[in-house]
Amino acid sequence: MWDKELDVGRHAARQAGKILKDLFGRVNHVTKKGKTDLVTEADFEAEKIIMGLILQSFPQDGIIAEEAGEHSRNASRIWFIDPLDGTVNFAHAFPFFAVSIGLHVNGEAVLGLVFNPYMDEFFEAVKGSGAFLNGKPIHVSSTSDLVDSLLAVGFPYTLHENPHRVMDHLKKMAVRAQAIRRLGSAALDLCYVAAGKLDGYWEEGLKPWDTAGGMMVVREAGGIVTDYYGNPFSPDKETIVASNPFIHGAMLDVLKS
Ligand code: IPD
Ligand code: CA
Ligand code: CA
Repeated sequence: MWDKELDVGRHAARQAGKILKDLFGRVNHVTKKGKTDLVTEADFEAEKIIMGLILQSFPQDGIIAEEAGEHSRNASRIWFIDPLDGTVNFAHAFPFFAVSIGLHVNGEAVLGLVFNPYMDEFFEAVKGSGAFLNGKPIHVSSTSDLVDSLLAVGFPYTLHENPHRVMDHLKKMAVRAQAIRRLGSAALDLCYVAAGKLDGYWEEGLKPWDTAGGMMVVREAGGIVTDYYGNPFSPDKETIVASNPFIHGAMLDVLKS
């Protein structure tokens, strides 16, 4: 049903990924959008190609993209685009970053694509059709106890101004989990949960383009994605918890406490 969208999204993600891979390690222009929030020429170039390809095929669709902002926000079909998720990593030549694309139709997530060009990992999911990594089905892990769980966390760009709640959660989770990682790409954190490489992930202060692609991949891989209060996640929410079904309740308990 979403074959054309999938084809266009895949092509756009691959083209953007090629730009990122070519510019990796040789970024010339790093600009600060905030104290710790960066943008590079790679973000803009990758976003331009994705938007161009999507609008060429679907001119009536809306777009919410990190750098270019909104285009036809009230359209019934909205593409959420993060051309480079992991910009701080990218600017430091730390090889963990991705292109993320999500499509919502009438407010419902139907397609998620996340491409890690450095490691050539292409994650994708279409509603009701399962989740895939490089064409092979993926599934969340079956780890059932937090003490055996490898978790990832992310920190918002407002951390310097308001670290307390984030650090409190980190402290509480760190003494319950087997280990915690801060990898630096929300889209890949989500997809690694989907692929069972991570058992769970949480973060607050994210934007719709960070989560729209990966959220779909986790759900289609059998995972659960909610806000910190256990309500179903949608990209307009400020907090996210994604995990396999077995440790989700325990993660929520820690975040509530
Ligand atoms: C960021 C990354 C990071 C997360 C931040 C995001 P960006 O996205 O996903 O892991 O912790 O909250 O804003 O700025 O690199 O696209
Ligand atoms: Ca992002
Ligand atoms: Ca970004």
